[in-house]
Amino acid sequence: MPNDLVSGHHDGPLDEASARALVDQGLELRLVASTDAPGFEHWSRAVARGFLEGEPTQIQLDASAERSTRRRMVGVVDPAAPEAEQPVATFASWVAELSIPGGRGIPSVAISSVTVAPTHHRRGILRSMMEGELRRADALGVPVAVLTVSESTIYGRFGFAAAAMSGHLTIDVRRAQWTGPRPEGRVDFISRERFRELAPELHERVRLATPGEIEMPEGHWDRIAGTRPDAEHPERLRAVRYADASGVDRGVALYAYRENHDDFARSTVRVDRLVAETPDAYAALWRFLLELDLVGQLTATEVAVPEPVLWMIADRRAAKVWVGDHQWVRILDVPAALQARRYASPGAVALEVTDALGFAEGRWILRVGESGAGSVELWEGEAVPEGIPAVRLGVTELSAAYLGSVSVATLASAGRVQSTDAAAAARIFSWYEPARLSFYY
Ligand SMILES: CC(C)(COP(=O)(O)OP(=O)(O)OC[C@H]1O[C@@H](n2cnc3c(N)ncnc32)[C@H](O)[C@@H]1OP(=O)(O)O)[C@@H](O)C(=O)NCCC(=O)NCCS
Repeated sequence: MPNDLVSGHHDGPLDEASARALVDQGLELRLVASTDAPGFEHWSRAVARGFLEGEPTQIQLDASAERSTRRRMVGVVDPAAPEAEQPVATFASWVAELSIPGGRGIPSVAISSVTVAPTHHRRGILRSMMEGELRRADALGVPVAVLTVSESTIYGRFGFAAAAMSGHLTIDVRRAQWTGPRPEGRVDFISRERFRELAPELHERVRLATPGEIEMPEGHWDRIAGTRPDAEHPERLRAVRYADASGVDRGVALYAYRENHDDFARSTVRVDRLVAETPDAYAALWRFLLELDLVGQLTATEVAVPEPVLWMIADRRAAKVWVGDHQWVRILDVPAALQARRYASPGAVALEVTDALGFAEGRWILRVGESGAGSVELWEGEAVPEGIPAVRLGVTELSAAYLGSVSVATLASAGRVQSTDAAAAARIFSWYEPARLSFYY
């Protein structure tokens, strides 16, 4: 990721229009540094309160400060409140590479820790922070913003759309029966610390192949592996690694058991992470998990839709899949975003994009060549160029289709886009690898 983008985002000034809008309400917008211990502590306490957590302990605060050095943190304070230093609203973001179709990445602003205290909610504070921070990202030239959400009703109005889904898998392992490959390499137990060493390298090697993934934020691997002092019940986690026939580490998995006291032979295993660099590693790790002794049920969240393991078991009805929205995307710069991804089939489409916040509003023609690369030019004049399908859509719908996880034809059937030839437009935007994000941030 270019350093000037990372530091330009982290150290950039506050948005003046947002600050003014908040001043009009008697509030003050501030930047919070992770090195400002009291300021960061107040900010973190506000985040914990916003997400219905208890008061954080000192160990949790220290851990959180360590993993926040690259985050741009914004707080809103109310000078008239009795505890005026405790923000009434929080917002964090950082620059991260988003994986997009074609094994490529695009700079994005990832947003997290969004809270507004219930004493101050529904008076436009989130709107002020979001619009201001999106303006900052746009001014810096970051073409896309991303976030994961607590509620799916909040962010559509700001142009975000669920662009990568997440599957929640429950498998009755007694019924499943492994029918997939049985690779030659070996699966061995490793310590959580060794998992913590191997998993980031593997994630880095595979993440660009899956649209929707982003670089893992700082501190997340420690949280997942339970290798920090603030970890809750790390002792429940077990880790394994797969090494191929020549001894090279190709995959890791991390899981936890939950005992079934009524029937010990029907305990549950929860898969927290599975990172596989090769099809063999994928098959070997899933087979290991599905053949664990004393287990009746396996659960895994944030899996792909569809997840290949469903094609590696004899009894498809042993598996239940619940699908939810997961990686939300908001395009800020249409030409940059469309030129960065690759396309599965050649063609051209004329796009008329509306955007209530203005960033992505405009008319363009996307032309895709035989190589799958796309070029974008302005669509000038009223008429649709001869032989090119036209699509009229909002930035939310364009963002939804960007990673290829929902077809433009589906959006047309839902009345969310208007097109002279939705099937042709759908062919251009489709992608063969399901979009997926394998963690929350
Ligand atoms: C969600 C939250 C940040 C909203 O903050 P807020 O300051 O009340 O939001 P605003 O007043 O700026 O509202 C902006 C718009 O979003 C809408 N909105 C706000 N919260 C919403 C919610 N939970 N569901 C649906 N719409 C919501 C408002 O109605 C308003 O709509 P409009 O501008 O179209 O009229 C706040 O309620 C909160 O902290 N919730 C708990 C923590 C949380 O879930 N954070 C989000 C993490 S992803």
